[in-house]
Amino acid sequence: MNQDVIIEVTNLVKHFPLKKSLTQTLREQFFYRGKEPIDLKVHAVDKVSFKISAGETFGLVGESGCGKTTVGLLLLKLIEPTSGVINFRNEDISQLSEGEIKTKRKEMQIIFQNPYESLSPRFSVLDTIAEPLRLLKIYNSEDEVVERVKETLKSVGLPQTEDFLDRYPHELSGGMRQRVGVARAYTLNPSFIVADEPVSMLDVSIRVGVLRIMKDLVKKFQTAFLFITHDLALARYMCDRIGVMYLGRIVELGKTEDVINNPLHPYTKALISAVPDPDPEATRTEEIPIVGEIPSGLILPQGCRFNPRCIYAEEKCKETDPDLLEADPTHLVACIRFKEVNNLVKEGEVE
Ligand SMILES: Nc1ncnc2c1ncn2[C@@H]1O[C@H](COP(=O)(O)OP(=O)(O)O)[C@@H](O)[C@H]1O
Ligand code: SF4
Ligand SMILES: [Mg+2]
Repeated sequence: MNQDVIIEVTNLVKHFPLKKSLTQTLREQFFYRGKEPIDLKVHAVDKVSFKISAGETFGLVGESGCGKTTVGLLLLKLIEPTSGVINFRNEDISQLSEGEIKTKRKEMQIIFQNPYESLSPRFSVLDTIAEPLRLLKIYNSEDEVVERVKETLKSVGLPQTEDFLDRYPHELSGGMRQRVGVARAYTLNPSFIVADEPVSMLDVSIRVGVLRIMKDLVKKFQTAFLFITHDLALARYMCDRIGVMYLGRIVELGKTEDVINNPLHPYTKALISAVPDPDPEATRTEEIPIVGEIPSGLILPQGCRFNPRCIYAEEKCKETDPDLLEADPTHLVACIRFKEVNNLVKEGEVE
C-alpha cells in the first residue's frame, strides 16, 4: 500500500447547538430548575483523530447517531468544525473559507446513500457524469467530454453506448443509478472520496457488485476512501482499517482483521458477537443489535461514555474518559481496562 497520507484529522470536534425552542423547553422541563442553566449542545463528534493514505479505505462503523455522517461532512468541509485540524494533502483546511476551499473541492467527492435522490431526474447519464467537468470547464471540446464520460462508464461496468448516455435516472435500475453516482464521483479523479452508507438503499443481491467496483477504483486511482457504514460485514469487505465510533468518539481503531478477529473494546466485542459471521451477502439490513439504551449525545455519561452499557465497568470507569491507548502500534483502544478485559494481565497483577 502506498503510504502517502492524503487526509489526516486530529482532535476533530463538532457540537451542534440545540434549536432555541427545544433548548428552552428542555431547560424549563428538566435541567434548569432554578440553578445555573446548562449549556445544551449535541456532542456529535468529540476529539476524533485518524488518517487515510492513498489507495486506502478507512471505515467508520457504529450505531445510528454515533457521528459518522458528521465526520464525513466535516472532512469535506460541508459543515464547519467546532475545533480540530483537518490536514488535506499537507494543508490545514479546517479554517479555510468557502471561497478558499473551492479549488480543493474538485479533489474531494462524495458518494451519497440514496441514488434515487442524489441524481437529478432532469439530467441524462451523460450530463450527470459530465457536470463536474462542465462546471470547471476543464475540457477542450464536447467530443472530449463524451470520451471522458465513456471512459468513466467503462470503469464502473456500465454500457458506453449512445443510447445509455441519453438515458434518464428513472430509466435505470437502482444498481445502475448508484454506479452512475460512483462514476460522477470519479469524473475528476479526486484524491479523496467519502461514501456514506453507499449501498444501504440497494437490493442485497446487487450490493457486492457496487462495492467491488468501488474497491477496484480505490486501488486503480489510489484514492483515499472514507467508507461509512453501520454494517460490520460491509466494513470487513471494503476496508483496510476501521474506526469503531460510539457517541462521537472513536473507541477502537486498527487493521480490519485485527479489530474484527481480535476486538479489544467492550463495545466492539458486543457489536461483533451480535454478528457472528459477518458476510456482506447476508440478507440482514437492520442496525446492529446491542443491549441497553444509547445515551444521548446531549448529556454524556460521566467518565467513559460506554460505562452505562458496559458489562466490564467498574467505579474508576466513571472517573476517567479514556483516550485511545496503544494495544500495539497499529491497534488502539479507548478503554482503561482493556488489558484486564482481554486477559492481557494475569490475575492479581497490578498495572
Ligand atoms: N444539523 C444537526 N443539528 C443538530 N444535531 C445534529 C445535526 N446533524 C447531526 N446531529 C446529531 O449529531 C449526532 C450524530 O449524527 P450523525 O453524524 O448523523 O450520526 P450517524 O451518521 O452515525 O448516524 C446525532 O445525535 C444527531 O442527532
Ligand atoms: S473504560 Fe470501563 S466502562 Fe469504558 S469500556 Fe472500558 S471497562 Fe467499559
Ligand atoms: Mg449517517
